[in-house]
Amino acid sequence: MALRLGDIAPDFTAETTEGTIHFHEWLGNSWGMIFSHPADFTPVCTTELGRTASLKDEFEKRGVKVVAVSVDPLDSHHEWIKDINETQNTTVNFPLIADHDRKVAELYDMIHPNASEKATVRSVFIIGPDKKIKLTLTYPASTGRNFFEILRVIDSLQLTANYQVATPADWQEGEDVIVVPAVSTEDAVKKFPKGVNIVKPYLRTTPQPNK
Ligand code: BEZ
Repeated sequence: MALRLGDIAPDFTAETTEGTIHFHEWLGNSWGMIFSHPADFTPVCTTELGRTASLKDEFEKRGVKVVAVSVDPLDSHHEWIKDINETQNTTVNFPLIADHDRKVAELYDMIHPNASEKATVRSVFIIGPDKKIKLTLTYPASTGRNFFEILRVIDSLQLTANYQVATPADWQEGEDVIVVPAVSTEDAVKKFPKGVNIVKPYLRTTPQPNK
């Protein structure tokens, strides 16, 4: 069955370009992102892994450990990384899992047979420090992901894990947020001393509380 939000991210042991990892142990108390790509030496994937590498500081700032998956073997990954570094002007600085037996792909339901019998689709799982799945995304092979959007969602997930707020459409870090419906307006005024704007009784906004 497909993994759902709130499920524990399956644990596994796998060979990667940075050695063997035991996934849960490797995550420790960090947030994590595990994401799959269809195959090595393909153009869209090359740009995606290059972009992820160039955003290293952004992932680190948010305390997120990143690991990529494909069903290609380790020697192929190592050769491909040379091309990624050369063409995307970066240094791949996160592990790529060599999932030749599809163990991880199957655990995370990353192979969608109606899209491809063999290759993984572009799946993204964001995992919280409690090892629970906080976000899933699935893109087809033909569409490269927007990694700025992934960082934006991580900002929202990390904010809403700590405050009783939700983030509106297209929200960006630093913008006003929404007080969750479970908080009464009376309590909201106490909880959010920067002020509560009551647009409708069910739509109340407040400046981002941790800014
Ligand atoms: C790519 O990464 O470029 C790609 C992979 C599979 C199908 C289409 C594009």
